[in-house]
Amino acid sequence: MLPFVSMPSFQRHVFVCINERAADNPKGCCKAKGGEDVRDQLKLELKKRGLSKMIRANNAGCLDQCEYGVTVVVYPEQVWYGHVTVADIAEIVEKHLVHGEVVTRLLIPEQPHLGGKTKFPVLEVTP
Ligand code: FES
Repeated sequence: MLPFVSMPSFQRHVFVCINERAADNPKGCCKAKGGEDVRDQLKLELKKRGLSKMIRANNAGCLDQCEYGVTVVVYPEQVWYGHVTVADIAEIVEKHLVHGEVVTRLLIPEQPHLGGKTKFPVLEVTP
């Protein structure tokens, strides 16, 4: 029998593509476009704001949206952001991850599952 381990309960889960391809691969890759720096900045911002226990940032392999790299996707709402840079992270955290407002200027096109929705629940801040 496995020992009981309390599972963390994250309100949002953010995946940042850090996939790497050979330099001559025509698809390119998010690592070459700064995926690791974007991930590091996201983790830093979450930690700085005391949000790491409520929002999880993870590495992702290729998310199959390479032309939009660096690609970031936020769950549970499944909002996809493209061409994300380190400079965009504070805005994504403040607007979307904390206040539930989609950063529309960074949206990857063609997300019919959103049905045009740009507002989601605000983060429930726990002490
Ligand atoms: S390499 Fe990042 S989405 Fe494909």
